[in-house]
Amino acid sequence: MQRLATRWRRTGISIGLVPTMGYLHAGHLSLVKQARRTVGKKGKVVLSIYVNPTQFGPTEDFSRYPRDLKGDLKLCRAAGVDVVFTPTNEDMYPAAPGHAFSTYVVEEKLSSAMEGASRPTHFRGVTTIVAKLFNIVQPEAAVFGAKDYQQAAVIKRMVRDLNFPVLIVVAPTVRESDGLAMSSRNKYLEGPLRTSALVLNRALKEIQRLVRKNPRSASQLKQTVKSLVHKTPGARLDYVEFFDPETLEPASRVQRGCHVALAVFIGRTRLIDNARI
Ligand code: PAJ
Repeated sequence: MQRLATRWRRTGISIGLVPTMGYLHAGHLSLVKQARRTVGKKGKVVLSIYVNPTQFGPTEDFSRYPRDLKGDLKLCRAAGVDVVFTPTNEDMYPAAPGHAFSTYVVEEKLSSAMEGASRPTHFRGVTTIVAKLFNIVQPEAAVFGAKDYQQAAVIKRMVRDLNFPVLIVVAPTVRESDGLAMSSRNKYLEGPLRTSALVLNRALKEIQRLVRKNPRSASQLKQTVKSLVHKTPGARLDYVEFFDPETLEPASRVQRGCHVALAVFIGRTRLIDNARI
């Protein structure tokens, strides 16, 4: 992949990268469209599929994360992806005794709250793998989804701090027709839990409705979200936070332009969502 990318770049071809963990859905495919718009017809769109072990916690779903390479390749072909990059664990994290992988990239500010507080080693895994993908694929632009809002902010900060020559493009969240944000993990939702999962989007909508009328205190709004989630069968709130969309600094008074993000367990499945207010 790196040799191919170097050859492309030498002949002036620009590369757009869409990093994914596979089990592709319409959200991922919207990033492919955005990558194509960014690099043009003559550019190359590379989509990587790699379920990155270092971003999963020890009790998380790494081993059962859904995989369907055959289906993914079909979708990529139809979407006009030029190359699908599917490295192995041995490619990404060599383990040979005496030569084992030992260098990580750590963002220390934006990574600490929300997803970082609930999943302490998660962003270290994300920044490390994305830095590696940037060095291998050498993209001029990389596209990320607003669905993982904090992840996009952390990546933008890494790119700025470490001078990666990569334009980061963030594409809007794609939703099912009933409002559930598309996610590979939605596959885990069976029967009534699929209905319970709607509480994330419902909570975001309710917050927007309340704040549209009047600015409110974050603590009051958190209480509103808590009781919405509490009333939902099988749902347990992990966090809900209100923050500045650029700095991710927590907001105590919530008004238009603030951002809200939440994580909710639906049964054993942990889902996240976010919105600009
Ligand atoms: P994954 O969860 O597969 O998501 C890959 C990309 O698709 C991310 O940028 C994510 O924000 C975006 N995405 C997911 N659901 C979306 C939706 N409903 N609408 C729009 N975009 C959506 O995020 C990861 O993988 C990994 O952390 C990765 C960046 C690949 C590093 O391992």
